Amino acid sequence: MVLTSDPTAQCTMDAPSGTPLLRVQDLHVHFPKRHGNVPVLDGIDLTINPGEAVAVVGESGCGKSLLGLAAANLLPAAATWNGAVEFRGQDVRSMSRSQVRRMHGAGVGMVYQDATSSLNPGMTIASQLRQICRLGSSSTPEDLLSSVGLQETDRIMRSRPHQLSGGQRQRVLIALALARDPALIIADEPTTALDVTIQRQVVQLLRALQTSRRFALLFISHDLGLVSEVTSRAAVLYAGQVVETGPTNDILLEPRHPYTSGLLRASMSIEQRWDRLAPIPGQVRQPRDLPTGCRFRDRCSRASDACVTRPALQTSGSRLLACHHPLPPSDQSSWTSEANEGTRRSANG
Ligand SMILES: Nc1ncnc2c1ncn2[C@@H]1O[C@H](COP(=O)(O)OP(=O)(O)OP(=O)(O)O)[C@@H](O)[C@H]1O
Ligand code: SF4
Ligand SMILES: [Mg+2]
Repeated sequence: MVLTSDPTAQCTMDAPSGTPLLRVQDLHVHFPKRHGNVPVLDGIDLTINPGEAVAVVGESGCGKSLLGLAAANLLPAAATWNGAVEFRGQDVRSMSRSQVRRMHGAGVGMVYQDATSSLNPGMTIASQLRQICRLGSSSTPEDLLSSVGLQETDRIMRSRPHQLSGGQRQRVLIALALARDPALIIADEPTTALDVTIQRQVVQLLRALQTSRRFALLFISHDLGLVSEVTSRAAVLYAGQVVETGPTNDILLEPRHPYTSGLLRASMSIEQRWDRLAPIPGQVRQPRDLPTGCRFRDRCSRASDACVTRPALQTSGSRLLACHHPLPPSDQSSWTSEANEGTRRSANG
């Protein structure tokens, strides 16, 4: 994966060689009627190679879903965009309707957060699977259900979505996305509606399928801890801009951008019930209300006068960072000790 606005940095971020499956370059997305001339995605570069698993992480409203939709050439009609989006080297803007259809079947499979609204409530699971298999699948509906770890396939085939549990519905959605053996699966918050135990199972399933079927994965989530279980690289988005990107584990163990650090503390504190680790103050502003310069500066405890200019995305060790005052690696000792203390307190109830 390459996620950078800095061409000199690409060599440090390049994933294994080969033709990229997906290349998004300098992507800007606007909603002129709603948000005027403020880009809701602002200069995003994203390259995913075949078989690679990449995460996009950020709070609600940061632009994660729009990036996933842009990658699949599914941006809403109200959006205007410029930059480049290429799938297997082909500019998606120049694709014919049949090429787009092919891309959405055998090229890209989508798994959404809300399985209830993604499945047709009036149709049995069997009908929905058969419908998609007829478009061209090497698997039967039963095989697909087994491949996502569902037992009692006969009962599930006869069921309508409301007769299944949340975890079962999400597995059916994954089966539908896999039906045409896509080269890329875009999973947009695929576990958010599920409880923690089922979340973990679905994430483990995605990881196992990704290894065995070798599809590339774009995993969208607000939870940095969760994405570390599935992806090797991650990009943290804030208000439509990439603020930090690099190997997922490096970012998880040593967040350098103040936003990433806050995001991690917030998700850890919810999971571990750490009352002392406060979430990031405030919330992502509406596009028209974003501050100039660094878009995070009204929420950042490290902000200075320098932050009224936009920080460039620059190489720092294994990653790219857009911050005038990133956390130095040495600061991580306090993060680690706080985390350990939180774990101890959590273990002691
Ligand atoms: N159809 C639309 N019309 C106008 N603005 C939109 C539209 N879709 C998204 N936006 C705006 O674009 C920004 C990014 O939205 P997006 O849905 O990508 O966020 P997200 O990170 O996926 O959030 P969530 O975690 O809540 O799903 C938001 O400010 C949102 O209001
Ligand atoms: S550039 Fe400034 S305001 Fe933005 S994250 Fe870095 S320190 Fe905070
Ligand atoms: Mg979203």
